[in-house]
Amino acid sequence: MTLTEGNCALIIFTFLSLGKVETPVYEPIKVDYITKLIEKPTNFTEWKQRHHIIGYFNKNRKVRIYITAGSWYAYQDFLKLKFKHDETLANCDIPCIWKIKTLKDLTYKEFKKADALLCVNQPSLPKNKSWNGQKFIQYTLEPMTHCPKCHDKNKLFDIRATYNESSDIPTSYIRMDTEKWRIKTPFNIKKLSQNSTFISFIASHWTKFRGTFIKNLQAHIPVASFGGVYRNTNWDLYPECKNLGFFELKNCVISKYPFYLSIENSQEEDYTTEKLWDVFNLGVVPVIWGAPNTRSYLPHPKSAIFIEDFPDTEALANYLKYLVKNETAYLEYHKWRNLEFSDEFKKKSYLSMYNFECNVCREVARLRIIDEEQHNIISDLETEK
Ligand SMILES: *[C@@H]1O[C@H](CO)[C@@H](O)[C@H](O)[C@H]1NC(C)=O
Ligand SMILES: *[C@@H]1O[C@H](CO)[C@@H](O)[C@H](O)[C@H]1NC(C)=O
Ligand SMILES: *[C@@H]1O[C@H](CO)[C@@H](O)[C@H](O)[C@H]1NC(C)=O
Ligand SMILES: *[C@@H]1O[C@H](CO)[C@@H](O)[C@H](O)[C@H]1NC(C)=O
Ligand SMILES: *[C@@H]1O[C@H](CO)[C@@H](O)[C@H](O)[C@H]1NC(C)=O
Repeated sequence: MTLTEGNCALIIFTFLSLGKVETPVYEPIKVDYITKLIEKPTNFTEWKQRHHIIGYFNKNRKVRIYITAGSWYAYQDFLKLKFKHDETLANCDIPCIWKIKTLKDLTYKEFKKADALLCVNQPSLPKNKSWNGQKFIQYTLEPMTHCPKCHDKNKLFDIRATYNESSDIPTSYIRMDTEKWRIKTPFNIKKLSQNSTFISFIASHWTKFRGTFIKNLQAHIPVASFGGVYRNTNWDLYPECKNLGFFELKNCVISKYPFYLSIENSQEEDYTTEKLWDVFNLGVVPVIWGAPNTRSYLPHPKSAIFIEDFPDTEALANYLKYLVKNETAYLEYHKWRNLEFSDEFKKKSYLSMYNFECNVCREVARLRIIDEEQHNIISDLETEK
């Protein structure tokens, strides 16, 4: 590992400006690790490396985070978490205290001890921080076009966790250990009878694209639509899917067809929701409309079908008809389950909702290490003066 030129210059400048060029303050190796912690990782390997270094420097120091706003998070995601006896998160290499405390419930003592306050979507923050290094974090997976206020326009936050790869804690909608996708059995197309409907769609609200596309596709092949948009099929068709939770019910129904229309609300870089990711866990092939760069982070180039690859809906319909008649060709879209995942996908899987809480604690620990180290470099030099 080597220092980058930029950081070297910064450190030399600090020494020069204090007239102390000759005595380096730290072992070069340590400065080198701190540099590693400052540089933004560019790929999966580098993210893991960053997290490893954070774990090493953080030792067993706790990171305390209070969630002051985020009702859906409280109902859905918080409940899945497991904690150890000392109240820290299980399955995290950083001892992480992670609690829901609205501002109203947050005591003065807790506020003083908090390393960070985290808000989901809307800000709910005290006027001032309790201490200098305390961090305010915003978490949102809502697209910019749908919820501009979720994207920290007013720069109230120190740390942002969004689906955007450039955010401080990029977070994908993947909600499980993706290694489990490997053991999912591909949909058995031999079960289909001659005229069976072989593609499904579920959306609760209309968008311009959904409205025209589904109608056009229906002109060529039947689409089983269960949501509010062009609903033509009743959930009751599958009694075994009844009495399941919201996402489980959807997924149960989706698993009844060899293809699913993964049509996002909007097309934004990096914006991919459970409409795509959950499908891989169902043995079904997604047919995609969404982020312009989706292709770059699929588990494998041949794990999905892109609507944009076809000149029109008729060509797409014909290709899908061909696939359900040719098992070998259909199964080619499942071969990725036995292959190595792409590096970009590994990153999406690692930086995801599934690992979100621990990734937040790591980020807060990282900034604490840097704040303290940088403060030390200056104060050590000052003592030598
Ligand atoms: C990750 O990025 C680093 C730096 O650009 C590069 O050296 C390394 O080969 C990359 N690793 C992978 C697996 O792409
Ligand atoms: C918040 O901080 C600002 C600037 O540091 C200060 O002027 C203000 O009095 C503080 N307000 C409260 C409520 O502590
Ligand atoms: C399939 O549809 C065609 C055309 O609508 C019809 O003639 C045929 O009887 C159907 N076959 C079955 C097995 O339902
Ligand atoms: C992602 O974040 C970067 C940096 O803040 C910004 O320039 C870019 O526009 C964002 N992308 C989207 C799609 O919001
Ligand atoms: C079925 O798919 C396989 C694999 O893509 C291909 O080699 C074969 O020619 C196809 N068969 C027919 C009848 O189209």
